[in-house]
Amino acid sequence: MFAGFDYGTSHCAIGVWADKTNAVEIVTLEGDKPLVPSTLHAPKVALKLPRAANRQLLTDAEEFTELRFGEAALAEYLADPTQGYFVKSPKSFLGVAGLSEDIRERFVTVIAAMMANVKRRTDAQMNASVDAVVIGRPVNFQGLGGKNANEQSLMMLEESAQLAGFKQVAFQYEPMAAALEYEARLTSEQQILVVDIGGGTTDCSFVRVGATRRESLDRQADVLGHSGERRGGNDYDQALALYAVMREFGYGDLLKSGLPVPNSYFVDAVSTNDVNAQQRFYSKATRERLEFFAREAIPVDRARRLLEVCEQRATYRVLRGVELAKIALSDAELAHIDFSDIEQGFSVATTGEQLLVSFERLLEHLKSLVDEAIASAGLAPERVYLTGGMAKSRVVREFLVATYPGVSFIDSDHFLSVTEGLTLWSQRLFR
Ligand SMILES: Nc1ncnc2c1ncn2[C@@H]1O[C@H](COP(=O)(O)OP(=O)(O)OP(=O)(O)O)[C@@H](O)[C@H]1O
Ligand SMILES: [Mg+2]
Repeated sequence: MFAGFDYGTSHCAIGVWADKTNAVEIVTLEGDKPLVPSTLHAPKVALKLPRAANRQLLTDAEEFTELRFGEAALAEYLADPTQGYFVKSPKSFLGVAGLSEDIRERFVTVIAAMMANVKRRTDAQMNASVDAVVIGRPVNFQGLGGKNANEQSLMMLEESAQLAGFKQVAFQYEPMAAALEYEARLTSEQQILVVDIGGGTTDCSFVRVGATRRESLDRQADVLGHSGERRGGNDYDQALALYAVMREFGYGDLLKSGLPVPNSYFVDAVSTNDVNAQQRFYSKATRERLEFFAREAIPVDRARRLLEVCEQRATYRVLRGVELAKIALSDAELAHIDFSDIEQGFSVATTGEQLLVSFERLLEHLKSLVDEAIASAGLAPERVYLTGGMAKSRVVREFLVATYPGVSFIDSDHFLSVTEGLTLWSQRLFR
């Protein structure tokens, strides 16, 4: 059996090709949902997972069955952030420069475990072993290493997929995959600009699609231009957090001495997809500074909340609250974030206006990225195909519509179009 696997920063989804119906079948991964959040929780910080002689993870070993994934992992972590080991969005760490051998090994194990969980559910649902898989890849992975970031990321993903038990592994660009799903519905030839704004990355690709292209195995020539950057939904969350939420945690406050509480502590706190920033925030040195601010800031109660975030190891929880507010503000003018676990009765109200202002800089980046893809293809876009969760945001969509008048916008299944395309590709590649 063949599968298309969207190993996303925020969510994973997988599809298999069903010969019976001659169509993509999306696998149910958690509860009755096709998407499982890219999270893992282990009861112990040391992550030792037994492997078979061929290095494949043994998914019936106790150490594996103790792991939690997706919403279940998040729930386990939120119940007590000081216990066990929790990871979210390991994809965003893949391209980090200067990874030590230990850390590299740990990430590969984490990703392999997540993939093995997905494979196990897929095999059970299909009543067969899925051995060949096409995994989606962004044009550029997050990380500071440029070309090296991409090579390193692909090697780690491939190794993880093998440890998870996939025997044949291929990659396809995520935006091309999204376009393949659209192509399957086309009778004419079109040049479309795919804009995929996910959790960790934004990819723009100009692609040629059409009924006549469909059977071709080499689609390189149909990628007419592209651009990509390591900014996505997480960055929008952070922007909203700094603009509208961190104020209530003492951002911008002064100390009795008249000096400001340095911004860097707040930036580190909200940078939940930056390992170094999180290490800094939870370090002993930071803790001491935060204790000092909690005595010396005016007013002290706001500064105390930041110390509480540090003591409770609650940065993910804070950012998750902000993310939910961001999503709610897509349809509402006001969203409250409940922080009563940080301080009794404490909540922060966020508004559509704050969302607009906090997104401004990111939307300018988005415009330059879209323009770069247009310039690299040397074509004027007639159609923009929107996909990825962040492109569901009303603010983002309205910005693009206003910035590119005369262009028609095609909406997809923002969360599954990449998976569908990857599965279509797996069928062509492996059949
Ligand atoms: N209705 C919505 N409005 C705004 N943002 C949303 C909405 N729904 C989801 N998101 C955001 O979309 C992002 C996740 O998108 P998606 O699931 O496409 O990412 P991904 O494929 O896992 O990541 P990547 O493609 O970068 O690897 C998150 O930042 C989430 O907050
Ligand atoms: Mg994606």
